[in-house]
Amino acid sequence: MKAIVNTIYGSPDVLELKEVAKPVPKEDEILVRVHATTVNRTDCAILRAKPFIMRFVTGLTKPKNSIQGTDFAGIIEAVGKDVKAFKVGDRVMGFNDEGLSSHCEYLTILENEGVVSIPENTSFEDAVASCEGVHYAVNTINKLKLKSGQKILVNGATGAIGSALVQLLKNRGIIVFAVGNLENIDLKKALGADIDIDYRKEDFTKLDIEFDGVFDTVGKSSFTKSKHLIKDGGIYISSELGWMAQNIFYSIFTPFLGTKKVIFPIPSDIKGSLVFIRELLEQGKFKPLIDRRYPLEKIADAYRYVESGEKMGNVIINVMTK
Ligand SMILES: NC(=O)c1ccc[n+]([C@@H]2O[C@H](COP(=O)([O-])OP(=O)(O)OC[C@H]3O[C@@H](n4cnc5c(N)ncnc54)[C@H](OP(=O)(O)O)[C@@H]3O)[C@@H](O)[C@H]2O)c1
Repeated sequence: MKAIVNTIYGSPDVLELKEVAKPVPKEDEILVRVHATTVNRTDCAILRAKPFIMRFVTGLTKPKNSIQGTDFAGIIEAVGKDVKAFKVGDRVMGFNDEGLSSHCEYLTILENEGVVSIPENTSFEDAVASCEGVHYAVNTINKLKLKSGQKILVNGATGAIGSALVQLLKNRGIIVFAVGNLENIDLKKALGADIDIDYRKEDFTKLDIEFDGVFDTVGKSSFTKSKHLIKDGGIYISSELGWMAQNIFYSIFTPFLGTKKVIFPIPSDIKGSLVFIRELLEQGKFKPLIDRRYPLEKIADAYRYVESGEKMGNVIINVMTK
């Protein structure tokens, strides 16, 4: 099968298109023919092994997996003899932030890992674009007690996490101020945001409005520069550790000191996120934001674009084009 291989960490230049052996599913695994995958910010971090701490998961001196990729949408081609939940021919989507080796034509995954069936009304592209960013967005809101009518500002709403988070918050009846790059998108139309703000024209920290929460999904703000916008009892969340990892320290101390809390959401329960989003896709209550599409052979260009930090939502790799 065709696969994108890298045996060392580095820039997208280390990626090579190769012919490798097709994997064989074990008793409790499924074999999936990959139709679509993405290049996301998690893939970029794994490719370069940055931050360094990632190496304790992905391999200390070189990648443990020589094929990268964290998500997929495809069709089951074979199942192990003990598999109960899936059958040959099922359309499935999956994600694992530690790596799934999905940048290729076939992969195997345990049936009880992060894999669910794709709703009938959902394309492979929409399915795969509803994995990585959605998982982090779900893990932002499932740690909070949200009430309909609350006002929340989402910074980075044109990103993968932000574009998912805006829609999940709207589904909960939240009033959402969405901050992003509005050059090519109307976030009110695309995501249902109540107010949209172009970060290149307006500094949201200068707004004269109080929010129940400021959620920074691109890690470009800080608690200290945003806290005057947050009501007493309100919350600040960032998807990044922050300079000197201060968001970890704030999340430990702010629950005991002061009236505004910082939460650092550690993501968990991938299967739970996928089951949750499958239901929203089925009900037509979620539509992922998709930016560019690339064929598998051009994946290095996709990495370069995602590394630029300028993607909007998700970048799709179409593995099966016929
Ligand atoms: N904590 C975790 O477990 C975890 C997991 C995955 C990712 N992350 C981190 O989460 C962050 C977001 O990931 P993502 O995939 O959602 O990002 P992304 O899709 O790469 O976000 C890019 C979008 O954010 C916009 N943007 C850039 N600077 C901005 C600013 N100062 N204010 C508002 N919008 C801005 C960009 O606009 P332009 O086109 O103008 O640049 C672009 O539309 C990344 O930093 C990533 O490393 C964290």
